[in-house]
Amino acid sequence: MTERNLTLISEFLLLGLPIPPQHQHLFYALFLAMYLTTILGNLLIIVLIRLDFHLHTPMYLFLSNLSFSDLCFSSVTMPKLLQNMQSQVPSIPYEGCLVQLYFYLFFADLESFLLVVMAYDRYVAICFPLHYTSIMSPKLCVYLVVLSWVLTTFHAMLHTLLTARLSFCGDNVIPHFFCDVSALLKLACSDTHVNELVIFIMGGLVIVIPFILIIVSYAQIVSSILKVPSARGIHKVFSTCGSHLSVVSLFYGTIIGLYLCPSGNNSTAKETVMAMMYTVVTPMLNPFIYSLRNRDMKGALARAFCKKINFCL
Ligand SMILES: *[C@@H]1O[C@H](CO)[C@@H](O)[C@H](O)[C@H]1NC(C)=O
Repeated sequence: MTERNLTLISEFLLLGLPIPPQHQHLFYALFLAMYLTTILGNLLIIVLIRLDFHLHTPMYLFLSNLSFSDLCFSSVTMPKLLQNMQSQVPSIPYEGCLVQLYFYLFFADLESFLLVVMAYDRYVAICFPLHYTSIMSPKLCVYLVVLSWVLTTFHAMLHTLLTARLSFCGDNVIPHFFCDVSALLKLACSDTHVNELVIFIMGGLVIVIPFILIIVSYAQIVSSILKVPSARGIHKVFSTCGSHLSVVSLFYGTIIGLYLCPSGNNSTAKETVMAMMYTVVTPMLNPFIYSLRNRDMKGALARAFCKKINFCL
């Protein structure tokens, strides 16, 4: 106890991304543009779905939940990254670091669970079209969303509490752009075996199982479409499922690579760039891939603007 009190670290330094100094301004502008795109794209979807009663169906309510989660997920890391790129001392207080860790895990999990719920929703819609409305009742939808929130609260809380009981004594430099579990574990001077074990087991439960469920749902969708082949159906399914699967693989692929197969020779530069993929790039792409390419959403967008401008027929 005394040792801990003597060497308590009160703040960490977030080194950010390995960007050469002459390119700092360029990357600052790029990240700012990406963050604004994420915020505006996702807000647009939430507002459109809220306003348009044609879109009050399970699929769009889940999409709106996903947009909310994307918006929050990128707001956990991006504003701090942008602020630190401008400041001389890129520090974050110890408590701030734990808070960031908690919300980072919370929204990453929520995202993961919502992607599963959405894949299940598409699976029911395509494989059991006649029973869709009775299976995906409003009660089940609310239940699935609430379940995601409960599981994700539990999981984020578990990791945050386990990290909070570690002591940090010597080094306080985090070679990353946010307070990530694995980066914090490397700095801890107490025993981290329990933490590593829990990351491995819980990571398996909240990442690998959802990923498998998603792949199984899309496999069922593809096989049911191929049973009754029609050129239009096949084209539609491959264009929708293909783009969904590319986002899903980018999100899960980088997370699985980082947390479940950590190899000693992974350079931190490579890790931060991989982390960029799912913390910044997927929340930005999700609204465009899941929603704005979609005919109903385009219709809703047109209706929303027509009402305002009053000049469409
Ligand atoms: C999330 O989904 C639930 C259940 O479908 C819905 O009632 C709620 O309005 C959605 N939340 C948002 C922010 O869209």
